[in-house]
Amino acid sequence: MNLDVIRTTLGGRQAVEGPAYRPEFIRPVDDAGLHRLNALLEQGVVVHDTLHAQLMELVKSLRPEIVFTRDDLEAAALAHLNGTDPIRYGVWVHYPWSHRLVHLLDEAEFALVRTDRNRNKITRAEQELLSSKKVGVIGLSVGQSVSLTLALERSFGEIRLADHDTLELSNLNRIRSGVHEMGTPKVLNTAREIAELDPFLRVSIFPEGITKANMDRFFCEGGDLDLLIEECDSVDIKILARQKAKALRIPVVMDMSDRGCLDVERFDLEPARPLMHGWIDHLDLEAAGRPMTNEQKIPYMLPIVGTDTLSTRMKASMIEMGETVSTWPQLASAVALGGAMTADVHRRILLGQFTASGRWYIDLEALIADQKGNPKEHATTTPMGAVDPEGIVNAVIRELPPVKQPMSRELAEELAHAAALAPSAGNMQPWNFILAEGRFFLFHDKVRSRSHWDPDHLMAHIALGTCLENIRLAASAKGIALSIDTRSAALDDALIAVIEAGPVSTPMEEVLFPWITKRCTNRKVVDRVLFPSEHEAQLRNVVEFVPGCGLRIFTDPADLERFAELCSRSEKIRLLDPTGHREFFEHEVRWTEEEAKQSGDGLDLATMEMTEGQMAALRIAADPAAMRLVDEWRGGRGLQRFSRKGIANASAVAVVTTRGRALMDRLEGGRAGQRLWMEANRLGWAVHPISAPVFLTHAAPLLGDLAEHHRSELAMVEKELSRFFTGEDLPLFMLRLSPAGEPSARSLRLPLHRLLSVHGSITA
Ligand SMILES: Cc1cc2nc3c(=O)[nH]c(=O)nc-3n(C[C@H](O)[C@H](O)[C@H](O)COP(=O)(O)O)c2cc1C
Repeated sequence: MNLDVIRTTLGGRQAVEGPAYRPEFIRPVDDAGLHRLNALLEQGVVVHDTLHAQLMELVKSLRPEIVFTRDDLEAAALAHLNGTDPIRYGVWVHYPWSHRLVHLLDEAEFALVRTDRNRNKITRAEQELLSSKKVGVIGLSVGQSVSLTLALERSFGEIRLADHDTLELSNLNRIRSGVHEMGTPKVLNTAREIAELDPFLRVSIFPEGITKANMDRFFCEGGDLDLLIEECDSVDIKILARQKAKALRIPVVMDMSDRGCLDVERFDLEPARPLMHGWIDHLDLEAAGRPMTNEQKIPYMLPIVGTDTLSTRMKASMIEMGETVSTWPQLASAVALGGAMTADVHRRILLGQFTASGRWYIDLEALIADQKGNPKEHATTTPMGAVDPEGIVNAVIRELPPVKQPMSRELAEELAHAAALAPSAGNMQPWNFILAEGRFFLFHDKVRSRSHWDPDHLMAHIALGTCLENIRLAASAKGIALSIDTRSAALDDALIAVIEAGPVSTPMEEVLFPWITKRCTNRKVVDRVLFPSEHEAQLRNVVEFVPGCGLRIFTDPADLERFAELCSRSEKIRLLDPTGHREFFEHEVRWTEEEAKQSGDGLDLATMEMTEGQMAALRIAADPAAMRLVDEWRGGRGLQRFSRKGIANASAVAVVTTRGRALMDRLEGGRAGQRLWMEANRLGWAVHPISAPVFLTHAAPLLGDLAEHHRSELAMVEKELSRFFTGEDLPLFMLRLSPAGEPSARSLRLPLHRLLSVHGSITA
């Protein structure tokens, strides 16, 4: 057969279905009724006539105290007709969309029998009261399940349904319907199901969804709603609908279909109650009515869904959104549970049996769970022995000749102040200083820099190098040449440098000195501008000032794109690895201003320059259980978004290289990095270090507990990265440069009195 013939016939078919959702009632008590019945029968409708069985059920419902025999029941059913021809009894209901004609008891008797088994969980009087109630449902995924459960319990007389979507195949994991209904508006689909269950329930539909234009009609036409069930995805409608409900004193119930979360707002009893329990009070609620971008919607959405309280799988799936899943998941079991919980609460509210507002969880996974054994121990952070700096100083001083030019306390304080302004990974400030017997000692505080992911302190040593450069610059600006002895220190030593002051001479003309205080990290992401070659030369000069250090500058967008991929992959691995995750989220991040102020260290969220969306993602990513799942799924590409764009859009990536990774290379590399950073800032470039690819690939071979898939991905990163660095030079400290202006916030520092201790005489 020709396919075109089939196509044409199919094309014609689709148009046949009308938008009908209200059944037609035919009561053949007169000729008009009989004619209509006859006409329908002639059209060949499918007839379902079980009136006699319904009558028998009615008789039993009316006389529950009697135990009828089959014959008695048959006779009682006939007697109930009281001589009326069964054809004329009750009502014939025509469903035009399915061409069915169904013979039913009329409304009062129908309702009595259909709700008989509700008794006395719902009494007849309560049922009667409920049949006078009007409920509105916005959003028909959970909303469909709620509406049908309400219809089953018959806990309303009128329902208004709003949703602008049509049923799709991917809805059929949770919306109970037939495959033949795909393409049908969800409101029609639900309205028809309700009518097929109980044609006497009044249903109105809003197939355009809720809009500002139809809001009044939805809430008020035919009488104000008694209760609103809000299950839509759109944040502006969530807010607008609540504003309206509050103005009209209508209670709002919402199920979240995650962890059995149910939300109730009793605007009927508490007319002054803030929307969403006050969680969105700080936002401009009027703005919710104006068009918003997805990014603008996030601050409104997050408190409503409660990012921190989502289930682990929901969080993990959200991290995968836009990568391996297209939207958030919703299960039939959750939707069914939501229908049940909402219907239960709806009924009790309308019957005056429940008065509270709040959020509740019927979290099945938590309530019905295996007995938990001892949670598996995670790898612990490498313990670091605490050192005794005074003891070390004491021992060292014994070996040293008397100091020629004892350093004053005042100078020591100035140097310590400059040193403490140096940058450090995670702003951990892994240093302390001692002035003893005229010498200044720089110590590595290994407790502060302890990191499983940096077992031999690569990052701390670079930071100590930046610290040394600040010390040198601060002295030099005062005309003091320092003798900085780092030569006897080894990788594992706590004492990094013994510093002596030389005689005062003319202050050096140091352009970099003022940048000790002005230098900062700026993580803003802006579009690239051309990086001028003369800047490259200036940066090279300041770096090569430090012996053994080199500079590579990358400005080719293709190279930057590659760097972006490699860096963001390594950052992803750090967050997916359980220990890396714990170190970052538990030790480094400071979630609030108070936390940042109190600790004086760590990464203040305000300095991260994140969009609302990224901040939400970070909060979700902070859940170790969610990240374990993401890792199990071998996902996490979404985590790369934290850093990818910034690097891909940078004007340049600058890398300080060294000959090796011995302590001296690290310290000198740190010094060169600090000079590079200051000079870049001086030239107007915003600087954002990106250390993950270097320190993770450096650490990987030293870590015994690294998952194999992370090890192999890091090996790939290292291999790809090495293509950019030929010859003997190794990348040590990598920074991205961009024209981002000033950062939104500056990071804090520990108070100096915690870092510097001064001893006139330390020896006993
Ligand atoms: C060795 C080193 C590595 C760093 N690595 C990163 C990094 O990977 N990502 C990042 O955002 N900042 C990084 N930083 C920046 C520090 O977090 C920052 O210097 C610190 O928070 C202090 O802030 P400030 O630079 O504004 O003074 C690094 C800094 C140093 C010294």
